[in-house]
Amino acid sequence: KNIVILISGRGSNMEAVVRAAQSEGWPARIAAVISNRPDAAGLGFAQARGIPTAVVPSKEFASRAEFDAALQQEIDRFAPDLVVLAGFMRILTSPFVEHYAGRMLNIHPSLLPAFPGLATHRQALEAGVAEHGATVHFVTAELDHGPVIAQARVPVLPGDTEDLLAARVLVEEHKLYPYAVRLFVEDRLRIEHGEVRVLDAC
Ligand code: GRF
Repeated sequence: KNIVILISGRGSNMEAVVRAAQSEGWPARIAAVISNRPDAAGLGFAQARGIPTAVVPSKEFASRAEFDAALQQEIDRFAPDLVVLAGFMRILTSPFVEHYAGRMLNIHPSLLPAFPGLATHRQALEAGVAEHGATVHFVTAELDHGPVIAQARVPVLPGDTEDLLAARVLVEEHKLYPYAVRLFVEDRLRIEHGEVRVLDAC
């Protein structure tokens, strides 16, 4: 299976998926890493691993529709079975989301449905929750609302700051995302009545 990973910045989740795919011998290859920002730090890691990279600079497009169309064209050059959003900081148009329906995943740093959107660690601290975490889900048109594949939980501790909490969640993200992507490439995910069923390994 061909995987295309989209990033906007640091790319540490992309790195975790690439490392797992390459070291665990998945029935999949990372076909490309694509960024909407030319300065995304993660591009260097992908290049060093010999993975094709591309930049579709969102700043240079007049509208979301035009950007998404150009991005889709670039992604489809790599004939992806799966598109993995890894810190890809763009709101996507519905035609784009529809085009990849059932084959596009995102990781969000909260226990969805709690705290969609930005600044999730601040939202969690302000809400005073005892537990926080991360969610991998299928991407649907409504932001951060698609069927949930897997979640990882961490405690919120006394004295936590946004940075401390973000770091604790990120450690879990780096295990959670490879796990969820692997379920997809092993064809073990089914969406039934808007919910994900995980099939046992055979
Ligand atoms: C992660 O916390 C991810 O959950 C969120 O943005 C951050 C991206 O970090 N969507 P990185 O670029 O993967 O290091």
